[in-house]
Amino acid sequence: MLHRLLQQRLQEVVANILPDADVSQVQVQPCPNPNFGDYQTSALMSLGKARKMNPRHLASQVLARLDVREWCDRVELAGGGFLNFRLSPTAVAQMLQSAVLGEHLFFEPVGPPRTVVVDFSSPNAAKPMHVGHIRSTILGDCLARTLRLLGHRVVTDNHIGDWGTQFGKLLVGWKRYLDRAALQTDPLVEMERLYKQVNDTCERDSTVLDAARQELVKLQAGDAENLALWQRMIDESRHQFDGVYGRLGVRFDHTLGESFYNPRLKATVQDLIARGLARESEGAMVVFFDALPELKAHPAIIQKSDGAANYTTTDLATLAYRLETWHPDEIIYVTDARQQLHFKQLFAVFRRWHPEARTRLAHVWFGSILGEDGKPFQTRSGDTVRLVDLLDEAEERAFRVVSEKNPELPEPQQREIARLIGLGAIKYADLLPNRQSDYVFSWEKMLALNGNTAPYLLYAHTRICSIFRKGGLDGLALGKGIGTTFPLSAPEELALGKQLLNFGHVLEAVADEYRPNYLCNYLYELAARFARFYESCPVLKSVAPDREARLNLCDLTARVLKQGLAALGLETPKQM
Ligand code: ARG
Repeated sequence: MLHRLLQQRLQEVVANILPDADVSQVQVQPCPNPNFGDYQTSALMSLGKARKMNPRHLASQVLARLDVREWCDRVELAGGGFLNFRLSPTAVAQMLQSAVLGEHLFFEPVGPPRTVVVDFSSPNAAKPMHVGHIRSTILGDCLARTLRLLGHRVVTDNHIGDWGTQFGKLLVGWKRYLDRAALQTDPLVEMERLYKQVNDTCERDSTVLDAARQELVKLQAGDAENLALWQRMIDESRHQFDGVYGRLGVRFDHTLGESFYNPRLKATVQDLIARGLARESEGAMVVFFDALPELKAHPAIIQKSDGAANYTTTDLATLAYRLETWHPDEIIYVTDARQQLHFKQLFAVFRRWHPEARTRLAHVWFGSILGEDGKPFQTRSGDTVRLVDLLDEAEERAFRVVSEKNPELPEPQQREIARLIGLGAIKYADLLPNRQSDYVFSWEKMLALNGNTAPYLLYAHTRICSIFRKGGLDGLALGKGIGTTFPLSAPEELALGKQLLNFGHVLEAVADEYRPNYLCNYLYELAARFARFYESCPVLKSVAPDREARLNLCDLTARVLKQGLAALGLETPKQM
């Protein structure tokens, strides 16, 4: 990858000039503005400042010793000490060539593979999955796919909330008010109704609340009847979750769930007490963070005054288990913004509990989905939107578009294309905004054929496929059969080629910063550069060697689009 070769060369020169500097901080990035160059580094400015040197002077010293003529036409010193690199067309052509020969698709494994646990989706059992679960599911899946693509060992774990106080109420409801017919039709809806009914009654009638507590105690003590009912509720929930995951194409290596850690909770609390990290406070067991200004006012309760463990206890036990079992280099938790304090506390307790652990812990949080009125996204009647209904509607709306555009296609084929577009549109709309901001859910926007949307990108891909169909070249193994020279005579070809080269950089950025929106924007820019190329450069009608080179550019673009969309979790139809 060119940016890494440049970076290595740059680091060598910096190490020569400043033997004690940490050169890993010296990085090369794609230039945000192509007028300045293709790549740049701003590292010499921070390095210069940190050492009280004149940054521009340092940059010019580096520039004087830097030889990157193999790859660059020009390197310029700019501003307060930027270096801007302009790639030579020959270097771009060489990279395109090796990609055509199947040596790479503009990315390669980053260093030694790391083991990364991704904890995502993690809905609570006995409730229908609703729109609130979609972001964790889609973001987490995309991060897992991207990390895998880059060669890391990824362990996905769905930490479902299958153990908790809600089961006391659910057991009372199940025993007293169960509607068997409703259970048959939709078990999750019935369980939700039972929960609400008991919850409402509790507010008026404290004997019901007591009953719920007793059922919970019995369950926790291993009462056979309650355990069997609980198991039934979990099975129904998991069955429904699996249906949604199947439709979304999301797979988990493990679904251990909170209940799995039950047998480890007591020992976790004991150990924290024994190590002097937790102490009693008003009957509860608490970890205080006197040395951490941010958490000083927020001690973590790890055992409630009634002796019960809580969400934090379970997460601590889970962390310890994951460390023992998978020895991860990194654990990523994908949840909404409201859990930020929980994870800060969790990580802080864990660092003191296992000071030897080198595992990087990341809470990847996200904002809410809003309706077009700017309020939390709801149905017309004010209920939360169920995920299955949302997916149905996406497919149905996409079907209307597809059947209108392609009336000649047989319906089953229209339905299949609509499925990919509808689900793709939902995923893409979720991944495109900065994850930390709220976004407005809009069918019109996400299904638009123009603009930065899934349909636009999927369409860009099918358009390239159709060039090959038209040319009678469908299914041809490009590269080997079709020539590998790239004259890149038109500026649009060079611009497209350079964008292809940046695929690997963007995948790394997504994985490092947990931001799929980088990849969305990259693919959109790729499609835009392709469109400009295709407008100004004839492909099938041109002659050798341009024709071969352009066909190869088309093929490489289609492959990067497909691979990039796959990393986002989108499947690409061949025709639309
Ligand atoms: N079940 C939780 C919820 O719905 C999310 C769990 C996230 N993962 C974790 N290890 N805490 O809010």
